[in-house]
Amino acid sequence: MGSVQVCAVCGDRLSELDPRTRCDCGGLLEIRHDPPVEDGTSLRRLFEERWGQRDDLNLSGVWRYRELVMPTVGDRAVTHPEGNTPLIRRPRIAEWAGLPHLALKHEGHNPTGSFKDRGMTVGVTQARRVGATAVACASTGNTSAALAAYGAQAGLPVLVFVPAGQVALGKLSQSLAYGAKTLLVQGDFDDCLRLVQAASDELGVYLLNSINPFRLEGQKTIVLELLHQLSWQVPDWIVLPAGNLGNTAAFGKALVEAKAAGLIDRLPRIASVQAAGAAPFARGFAEHFAARHTVKAETVATAIKIGDPASWDRAVRTIRDTNGVVTSVSDAEILEAKAVVDAAGVGCEPASAASVAGARQLCERGLIGRDHRVVAVLTGHVLKDPGALLTYHQETEPPPKYANRPIEIEARLSAVAQVMGR
Ligand code: F0G
Repeated sequence: MGSVQVCAVCGDRLSELDPRTRCDCGGLLEIRHDPPVEDGTSLRRLFEERWGQRDDLNLSGVWRYRELVMPTVGDRAVTHPEGNTPLIRRPRIAEWAGLPHLALKHEGHNPTGSFKDRGMTVGVTQARRVGATAVACASTGNTSAALAAYGAQAGLPVLVFVPAGQVALGKLSQSLAYGAKTLLVQGDFDDCLRLVQAASDELGVYLLNSINPFRLEGQKTIVLELLHQLSWQVPDWIVLPAGNLGNTAAFGKALVEAKAAGLIDRLPRIASVQAAGAAPFARGFAEHFAARHTVKAETVATAIKIGDPASWDRAVRTIRDTNGVVTSVSDAEILEAKAVVDAAGVGCEPASAASVAGARQLCERGLIGRDHRVVAVLTGHVLKDPGALLTYHQETEPPPKYANRPIEIEARLSAVAQVMGR
């Protein structure tokens, strides 16, 4: 049983343990595994048996699916463990979106608070397998938090490149806490990504952005795990926020491979949702992907403030393979969706709420039917990016209708009574 890395542009094949993270021709690499020896029924049984077991590999919601992720991993995984995130149903959120059968896959329940841990457990495991001496990434904050944590666990020096002044405090503090060398780059995320690629080429640091195909192998398990939680009954739609497009790419690959392995019998449609101020992929979709676009990104959802997405071609394939759609939502729609998710006691970071805002919009436009079974992915935890709550809600006049402002009082019972209207 083995895997190869295949260039999406020139078709060159690299061995599984080749340390290059892109082809010499510049094309992105894709992992191809030998098909599992088990049929779909046996695989489903195997995954189900593993869910109850107590060893680290089987406890992980990534490594439980290792036949489709990294069949040759053996006992070498750098795992927290991660995954096992809940699939949540909340009538109030479903009602707001107009979708009674809406479920939320909450990836904020991962160890560092975002779905990035699923990619990093595989990416850092691969870094160790190829003998990397240092690892690096560019990030809007979540990737760097995850790399800092998994790199620390593996004992590897970590270098992260983040846009100065544009990363949420929660995320920045994680990278510092886990001990990563944290570079605040005077530029935006797209500048950081260019810089880290040059650094990796010139300085021999192992690159762990989602350009690295092993990251996507881990992120595929968001889809595998949610299908497992639905007893492999395929939903009609999976809706996710989109920035650099690694996740959109991973979702399509997961679905195509799950069908080929006999785990599911048809594909759900993917809906990728961008923030309106950072929506080059939505524009591309509207033009049937005739051209690749870049924009100068601006949005309150800092995690997806990306103007030149790296996994564009891979993500186009996902949209084509799944008869998917791409749309964009305004910052106001994102913040309203977040307020609804938060008020239900679930909570998520602003970028994550783009999926719920997008699901609602697509329902209003008649693309998603009211009776459709929809899974929206919440990609990050409510504590990750509290800036919108702490500044936008507090400073905007008049306050948004859902703003919840703190009330400062004197340390007297009568002041409490006054607040309570007694
Ligand atoms: N949601 C959150 C919370 C994210 O952090 C990201 C990406 C996305 C959605 C979009 O996923 O890039 O695969 O399309 N964050 C990256 C980072 C860019 O550096 O943390 P994508």
